[in-house]
Amino acid sequence: MKITMIGSGYVGLVSGACFADFGHDVTCVDKDADKIEALKAGRIPIFEPGLDGLVAANVAAGRLAFTTDIPTSVREADVVFIAVGTPSRRGDGHADLSYVHGAAREIAENVSGFTVVVTKSTVPVGTGDEVERIMRETNPQADIAVVSNPEFLREGAAIDDFKRPDRIVVGLDDERARAVMTEAYRPLYLNQAPLLFTTRRTSELIKYASNAFLALKITFINEMADLCEKVGANVQEVARGIGLDGRIGPKFLHAGPGYGGSCFPKDTLALVKTAQDYDSPVRLIETTVAVNDNRKRAMGRKVIHAVGGDVRGKRIAVLGLTFKPNTDDMRDSPAIAVIQTLTDAGAAVIAYDPEGMDNARKLIEGIDFADNAYRAAEGADAVVIVTEWNQFRALDFARLKTVMNAPVMIDLRNIYRPDEVARHGFSYTSVGRAD
Ligand code: UGA
Repeated sequence: MKITMIGSGYVGLVSGACFADFGHDVTCVDKDADKIEALKAGRIPIFEPGLDGLVAANVAAGRLAFTTDIPTSVREADVVFIAVGTPSRRGDGHADLSYVHGAAREIAENVSGFTVVVTKSTVPVGTGDEVERIMRETNPQADIAVVSNPEFLREGAAIDDFKRPDRIVVGLDDERARAVMTEAYRPLYLNQAPLLFTTRRTSELIKYASNAFLALKITFINEMADLCEKVGANVQEVARGIGLDGRIGPKFLHAGPGYGGSCFPKDTLALVKTAQDYDSPVRLIETTVAVNDNRKRAMGRKVIHAVGGDVRGKRIAVLGLTFKPNTDDMRDSPAIAVIQTLTDAGAAVIAYDPEGMDNARKLIEGIDFADNAYRAAEGADAVVIVTEWNQFRALDFARLKTVMNAPVMIDLRNIYRPDEVARHGFSYTSVGRAD
């Protein structure tokens, strides 16, 4: 089967490499000639564990290629995936669909023979209808079926998520596409991954409902964490206690500095906007968005409180900048707001992240960067763990204590046990544990 992926960003690249690994013949297309040149030279523009090896193996096997040539790659394809970005539109939070619509036009101009056009980008309900309308208007002769097939990949675990999915959701209104999509995902189907066929609009909503529900779940446990601190309870045990109930489940109940990333913030906002447009507001999600936004700066204030209420002239080491570990992605990372709150209050911040520093330098001004955790901690009045990278899970406390100005740790991810840190003579503050 010949698959063309329009957009070689995070989703396009991971999906393209995985489809190639299933044995399909995949071409990843992008307008960015520099990106395509880099990919052809074996350089992967994002940090995703295992992706470089997967791309290299499939390029070597002749199943994966990169090009800027949309016409040829679309003409030859049985299936064309649209995997372009849908950023928040400036000003109103709606998803910006201009790249999706642009791709639809270009595909329509170049298709030949029956072609299944699949939207993988996260798009609001009704986008499939609009993509189909644009394509039919651009090329009334085109023999196409427009399908929705949202992705549920987590950054840092994307390849595993693609190859071992909880479910594959396919929304279609043209039955001819069903066989083609079944074939595309056949290796997973044989592994018994549930393949859920539904309508296009339902499929589009499943994507937003999934992300919104997960964001809600995180926000719920974050509010419970705040309550735990007030009433003298332990949020990790609350999470375990409720998570053992099979109806609730244990995942996505880690309290922390608030969710970030390229998906939850943008998708929750877009769902709120869609719901308002349809006069069916989703108040729970509106509140989730507001609570999460407040939380990020509140975590900065928590740090200030932990160092005695005044950070002017103090030196704070921040460990972890990316929105989560195993990625270099800084988009909407809680670290940005935490650091901003600290520098606004007059602190000098020195930060370290294993993969995110290049991106962080572009986004955060007025701070210093160190090349490891201990360097960052030199002369610091407190060390703050914002992202739970593995290398921060076993810090050498004795060494930290020697280099720091004062042994103070604020752990916004609860990666340590309070008694363990206290034993090393540190003052320790974490989230939702009445320490
Ligand atoms: C999320 C979803 O998990 C994927 O299923 C989805 O495909 C993806 O968005 C998307 O729409 O593309 P991702 O943003 O990569 O994936 O990362 P998550 O692992 O979901 O984490 C999101 C944020 O929530 C991070 O800031 C993380 O630290 C935070 N989080 C997560 C918590 O604070 N607590 C938790 O228990 C879990």
